[in-house]
Amino acid sequence: ARSSAVRMVEVGPRDGLQNVKTTIPTATKLELISRLRQTGLKTIEITSVVSPKAIPQLADCRDVLADGNIRGMVNDESLRVPVLIPNLKGLEIALDNGVREVAVFVSATEGFSRANINATVDEGLARARQVAEKAGAAGRAVRGYVSCIFADPFDGPTPQAKVLKVVKDLLNMGCYEVSLGDTLGVGTANDVKSLLGYLSENGVSSSQLAGHFHDTYGQAVGNVWQAYQCGLRVFDSSVGGLGGCPFAPGAKGNAATEDLVYMFEQAGCDTGVDLAKLVGVGNWISAQLNKPNESRAGVALATK
Ligand code: HMG
Ligand code: MG
Repeated sequence: ARSSAVRMVEVGPRDGLQNVKTTIPTATKLELISRLRQTGLKTIEITSVVSPKAIPQLADCRDVLADGNIRGMVNDESLRVPVLIPNLKGLEIALDNGVREVAVFVSATEGFSRANINATVDEGLARARQVAEKAGAAGRAVRGYVSCIFADPFDGPTPQAKVLKVVKDLLNMGCYEVSLGDTLGVGTANDVKSLLGYLSENGVSSSQLAGHFHDTYGQAVGNVWQAYQCGLRVFDSSVGGLGGCPFAPGAKGNAATEDLVYMFEQAGCDTGVDLAKLVGVGNWISAQLNKPNESRAGVALATK
């Protein structure tokens, strides 16, 4: 039987901050990462190396990667510290900074692919393959993301076969797991069950998959639990429910890490995360960003 323990992938410093309108000082990003590490989180996606025109908020990624404490985390064998990378240019910067894990990302759908990376799905797959092969040859781990698993902001509902094709390609190019992204946050538990059943019938094992659910319609926690029931054991989330992509208009933040840790701990599933400390980080970063804390568990536990 598979372990009931889950692996939490904290994407707050990347997905969480990429869509924030105000300028965030590099020091605040570094402090966020350091505070997240102190909660016991073992996987933290710390930034992306993308076009600063596309994502101005993470234009200081080189300063983040050059920081001494970040270097220490990157070199800590007990941690996974992925960096999101769209192309060879980004990989070169990551490798120059000693990054040991990268994440590549491809949309299942054409509309979002065009908006997000100015390329077709096939072009996106080709770029991801270049990055994955070169990173793999350099001994680095590669994680994959597929976006728009349920719907695309421009094209509408996503056919499951398109998700399968991208998942299989990402696994074939060497990704050790593929994170299924409901970029728009429109899917429900029933959709999760249907897609995971389809992927399983077509030869994709739940051990090769992670769940990445945005919370636009309030379904993210339910979707995570459904995916857990279907065998997934790795989940992406953001502290304080931060997150969103500027190229997916209207989409809200990721599942809040606090909400997932609360849910899993109540179910007896070990997350390795200190919930009280995490709640503190969620309130701290929300205050820094001058925005309400989007984690329901975070707000409830802080005011208890
Ligand atoms: P482009 O304009 O087609 O390509 O952008 P380009 O090669 O002509 O580059 C444009 C400029 O960016 C050039 O600078 C390049 O040098 C520079 P200029 O000459 O104009 O001064 N550039 C770079 N700079 C730093 N790092 C790089 C890099 N590459 C080029 N790696 C490109 C194509 C892919 C670069 C662009 O569209 C891009 O960066 N897109 C990324 C958008 C993004 O980060 N989106 C959010 C992350 S994905 C997401 O949130 C979904 C996810 O969470 C899962 C889910 O929820 O579904 C993962
Ligand atoms: Mg996302």
